[in-house]
Amino acid sequence: MNEKNEKNENSGRKFSVAVIPGDGIGQEVIKEAQKAVDAAASLEGASFEWVGYPFGAAHYLKTGETLPKSAIDELKQHSAILLGAVGDPAVKPGILEHGILLALRFVFDQYVNLRPSMSLPNVPTPVPLGGGKIDSVVVRENTEDLYMGLGAIAQEGELEATINLERGKYSLRGHLGLLISPHVPFAAQIALNSGGGVARITRYACETARKRGEKRVTIVSKSNAAPALYGFFEESAGKIISDEYPEITGEVVNVDALCYHLVRQPASYGVLLCPNLFGDIISDLQAGLAGGMGIAAGANIGEGLSMFEPVHGSAPDIAGTGKANPIAAILSGALMLRHLGLERSASAIENAVSGYMAASQRRERPFEFSGEASCSMVGDAVVKRI
Ligand code: IPM
Ligand code: MN
Repeated sequence: MNEKNEKNENSGRKFSVAVIPGDGIGQEVIKEAQKAVDAAASLEGASFEWVGYPFGAAHYLKTGETLPKSAIDELKQHSAILLGAVGDPAVKPGILEHGILLALRFVFDQYVNLRPSMSLPNVPTPVPLGGGKIDSVVVRENTEDLYMGLGAIAQEGELEATINLERGKYSLRGHLGLLISPHVPFAAQIALNSGGGVARITRYACETARKRGEKRVTIVSKSNAAPALYGFFEESAGKIISDEYPEITGEVVNVDALCYHLVRQPASYGVLLCPNLFGDIISDLQAGLAGGMGIAAGANIGEGLSMFEPVHGSAPDIAGTGKANPIAAILSGALMLRHLGLERSASAIENAVSGYMAASQRRERPFEFSGEASCSMVGDAVVKRI
């Protein structure tokens, strides 16, 4: 440990992180994120112990389990979770996504899905930015809305379901009974936004705006079509903002209009406060506008254990080819460092990523940007600059 480290308040801090590389390119990109986090943390004299967990397609196909209860207790002992991606063509869509990813978000009540989007040097964007730079962040509610996991298909025109659900802040009990005449098959899925749920994500969005030095939070809604669900969301969010954050303007934009404006003026937004489903969709749009999924980082944050994962999925088509871009995972590692109080390390990673991209020749860039640098080469190039 050098003198510089000894003066640092983080010097000597040790963190234990649960690593779930998961499926496909998750395996490859997470290695690079770990390398970057180790290098950056050592700048502050902090260190990471990585404890690997095998959850994902292979484990499921072998054992039939997605996320066992025993693992949840064990995970609690860590400082954070770093996750690659889950999803595999050999497993029916939804099983791993619900059984692992959504389960983790719900069990640990990770109510914030934070997805920043930033222009990086030498990353071509599909839409001209008009000289501006994208620097926006989706603050997505991560536990409610259409993601309650309450739905059923009625083949015979009649649906009877008992609801018995435990969530971080409440339990939900009840009954859903629907009869359609004439008897045709139908499906129903319950979306729910609660007062407490909207309040806490709104506060998080406002605190994010404050940290960014901004006075506007865009509330993403669709109250013209779904007045109960999203009317409630936008009114509850608006009230929290005017009562508690007088300096901030809560600007309501319907999600369809937001898509239109985002495509035409991608650099004109800041904090985007979204209900769960819209946040999922807008974060992909935002990633596309900034240049690609390979640079889109994400964090699932709660009061307990938080989880850091790139926005992208397992990309089975390029898994094992070395073509995966690890930048999204590396930047997710930076979000983890920031969450753990290692601000200097987090910035070191972010600066290293943009420094590497700025200085890179075409061939030294990730395949995603017409380069020829493999996943580990990109990781090495970033680490060298940390
Ligand atoms: C995401 C993903 C998940 C979501 C899927 C895999 C369930 O698209 O993290 O954005 O919808 O939240
Ligand atoms: Mn998504």
